[in-house]
Amino acid sequence: MKITKICCIGAGYVGGPTMAVIAQKCPHIQVTVVDLNTERIAAWNDENTDNIPIYEPGLDKIVAEARGRNLFFSTEVDKAIDEAEIIFISVNTPTKTYGKGKGQAADLKYIELCARQIARVAKHDKIVVEKSTLPVRTAEAIKSILDNTGNGVQFQILSNPEFLAEGTAVEDLLSPDRILIGGNTTEEGQKAIQALVDVYSNWVSPEKILTTNVWSSELSKLTANAFLAQRISSINAMSELCEKTGADVNEVARAIGMDSRIGPKFLKASVGFGGSCFQKDILNLVYIAKSYGLNEVADYWEQVIIMNDYQKLRFSNNIVKTLYNTVADKKIAFLGWAFKKDTNDTRESAAIYVADELINEQAKIAVYDPKVSERKVLADLDYLETRTAEKNAKNVTSFNNAYDACEGAHAIAILTEWDEFADYDWQKIYDGMQKPAFIFDGRNILNKGKLEKIGFVYQAIGS
Ligand code: NAD
Ligand code: UGA
Repeated sequence: MKITKICCIGAGYVGGPTMAVIAQKCPHIQVTVVDLNTERIAAWNDENTDNIPIYEPGLDKIVAEARGRNLFFSTEVDKAIDEAEIIFISVNTPTKTYGKGKGQAADLKYIELCARQIARVAKHDKIVVEKSTLPVRTAEAIKSILDNTGNGVQFQILSNPEFLAEGTAVEDLLSPDRILIGGNTTEEGQKAIQALVDVYSNWVSPEKILTTNVWSSELSKLTANAFLAQRISSINAMSELCEKTGADVNEVARAIGMDSRIGPKFLKASVGFGGSCFQKDILNLVYIAKSYGLNEVADYWEQVIIMNDYQKLRFSNNIVKTLYNTVADKKIAFLGWAFKKDTNDTRESAAIYVADELINEQAKIAVYDPKVSERKVLADLDYLETRTAEKNAKNVTSFNNAYDACEGAHAIAILTEWDEFADYDWQKIYDGMQKPAFIFDGRNILNKGKLEKIGFVYQAIGS
């Protein structure tokens, strides 16, 4: 089957960058990304590519190259579905906040709405691709909705999970470790797999394109995120033991990472992992395991989340304890709010939870993040519903630069590993602070020797 038109439902952190790269690499394919969110689509269409809704290094250039040529952003969902031979579903699949499975299961209402919309609109045979991260066996539900329309349209459902990480999305999409495509073992299923393989083959070498059955593909995505997050919780667990014993977690990570069976990546101790997916996907895995009665499997993975919550709490508790057991009315400067560097995404960022704990202790939080606005910081805190929006606004202020945020502060907490933090004039920052001037480095990015020489009381994670 020759593919000429692709539609992607969901213009978010995955749909936007993924489709921009497909469009750049496949100029012969028309790629239309649709979303219900008119503001988001307008931002994707902004003449100035600095204003596209997602900050990812290199993305603006790719959008500038392909947009209007064969890459389009639109709110006309029906039209794009109707025209396309392949439809990617890339909508959000958050943790359920209500009903059965509340707090654990993935909320599939947006997925089901997409399936119903495709079923209603489609007049020609289509390949429907699960790009969103989904519980294993979701393709079964999608198929049931699509096959019961009675209009004779044939659908093939593929699972093609996305493995990009934010902050390096463009790099990851241009040179992926692998592309995973799961499909049906029937002849029609294999043809659909081949059609999608052909799209990726425009820039990914064949040995990196892996094809499996649908269920393996769906479950591999949850498994990959669970394994990655588990490494972080493992090293974070060791970080506390390092603090008690005089070992240094950076040295331990280096020593174990040189074992080729362990490997060096994802061993950075931190204030705790954030992001929209690790927690959501592990909770989902826990829910699925429990639903099959696999309680030991569920408990094993749940511990990764328990450890991560503990690491965030341990960080805020340590700030309070070190500041003589009270932070009431003290100014604590937060450097970083995003869940990692090089992104404007703040979903599940450790900063939110650390701030929430400190506000409970009546601290005044002064935030500086190069890519996050005050509106977003406050919205993140309000979302927790710990206190009123007025109280949050009274306790939290954002600044346009780090020097102003740190002026008069009792302590600085590093929450995101933005590169610029290491290059600041730390003497100048020290001079403007209350003494003793404390730094709590939740990312282990600053130079302890240099800071202590200036006069700071410096504390890192795991040493
Ligand atoms: P997102 O919230 O940034 O984007 C989802 C978009 O879908 C939103 O703009 C929303 O308006 C739109 N949408 C929802 N329902 C719709 C509908 N019925 N019709 C049209 N548009 C609709 O989410 P995201 O971060 O892009 O994640 C999407 C999926 O990809 C999730 O399942 C996530 O787990 C997975 N994933 C995310 C990442 C990541 O780095 N963010 C990486 C890999 C996989
Ligand atoms: C993660 C995975 O890395 C992607 O492969 C996956 O596609 C994506 O989730 C997803 O499914 O959404 P992402 O969350 O964007 O990507 O970013 P990561 O680089 O994995 O970082 C996640 C969190 O872990 C961040 O808060 C980061 O600071 C933290 N982290 C990461 C550590 O604390 N230590 C490390 O060694 C690595």
